[in-house]
Amino acid sequence: MKIRQCLRDLAPYIPGRLKAGAIKLASNENPLGPSPKAMEALRECVAGVCLYPDNTCMGLREALAARHGLGPGNIVAGSGSDEIMMLAAAAYVNPGDTAVTARETFSNYTFVTRLFGGEMKYAPLGNGFFDLEALAGLVDSRTRLVFLCNPNNPTGTCFTQGGLEDFLRKMPPETLVVSDEAYADFVDAPGFPDSVSLLAKHPNLLVMRTFSKLYGLAGLRVGYGIAREELAGDLLRAKISFSVNLPALAAARAALEDRDFVEKSLAVNREGKAYLYGEFDRLGLAYYPTQANFICVDTGRDSGDMERRIMELGVTVRPLASFGLPTSLRVTIGTREQNRIFIACLEKALSE
Ligand SMILES: Cc1ncc(COP(=O)(O)O)c(C=O)c1O
Repeated sequence: MKIRQCLRDLAPYIPGRLKAGAIKLASNENPLGPSPKAMEALRECVAGVCLYPDNTCMGLREALAARHGLGPGNIVAGSGSDEIMMLAAAAYVNPGDTAVTARETFSNYTFVTRLFGGEMKYAPLGNGFFDLEALAGLVDSRTRLVFLCNPNNPTGTCFTQGGLEDFLRKMPPETLVVSDEAYADFVDAPGFPDSVSLLAKHPNLLVMRTFSKLYGLAGLRVGYGIAREELAGDLLRAKISFSVNLPALAAARAALEDRDFVEKSLAVNREGKAYLYGEFDRLGLAYYPTQANFICVDTGRDSGDMERRIMELGVTVRPLASFGLPTSLRVTIGTREQNRIFIACLEKALSE
């Protein structure tokens, strides 16, 4: 058999490392675990898994639509937001088309583009931020997709409503702008885009959110896209039936109503962020102020080397060499205890 050329050239995704017994701060998951209400819903739904789930995901889509002030026709649920970006590429990328994103960002944008024979063009970040002007400069008549990551993984930086509006104005109607807002729930800086409000004016906008981060459901794989109905319909044409499983649907609906868990998770994130900033300052390490649940810190040493040392000491973090940041690590903001252990490991690794 001859594997397709675009797959042969494609580097596999490198997930955050799991190590038995180690604290995992490598994949920006919720350190408090899953929402308790989601856990309850999971227990209740188990007996029903002999049946296929609702292929339309209607209950979840209605709940999400109500939350965003839209109709269920504007929501596409997927097996993680990873599936939503895959659907965007499946729907719009033909071999030879291009997509555009930042050089130092989430690698899946490149994967989905190349999977369908497209080519990715990159603009470097400017000071850790998406350089929207440089990205717009890469867009031409062959560009089908632009992936914006806001807040950006791995720097945790954001662009504003004004920045997004300007950018959208420059886009040709045949170019879809995907605003990946996987970490939007954690943002506390003013000016973060209300992207949903821009859908009325921009039929070529797709917003993505996930249950993997704030809601603690990464292992269940639920994410969603928000778009105008016509665009949502295009994505659905490429979707595999039943891709969002029955427990995932039940847990996501319950998690959405778990205000206590959400508040607690945000408070833990705020406190952990302040603690880690203080410790990085004490250690003289540069970092990007973050709007997410992780921090990108520059240790000044080889990132793979530092990751291995810290892992041997009991904590997994993400080395950022593959993101184009060879001396930086991305660490998920953990619980108070996890953050203290991480800092002790980091300090020891730096002193070796
Ligand atoms: C920016 C960004 N988008 C999307 C995802 C994927 O999220 P999901 O678990 O919903 O597929 C991640 C996961 O780490 C991410 O960092």
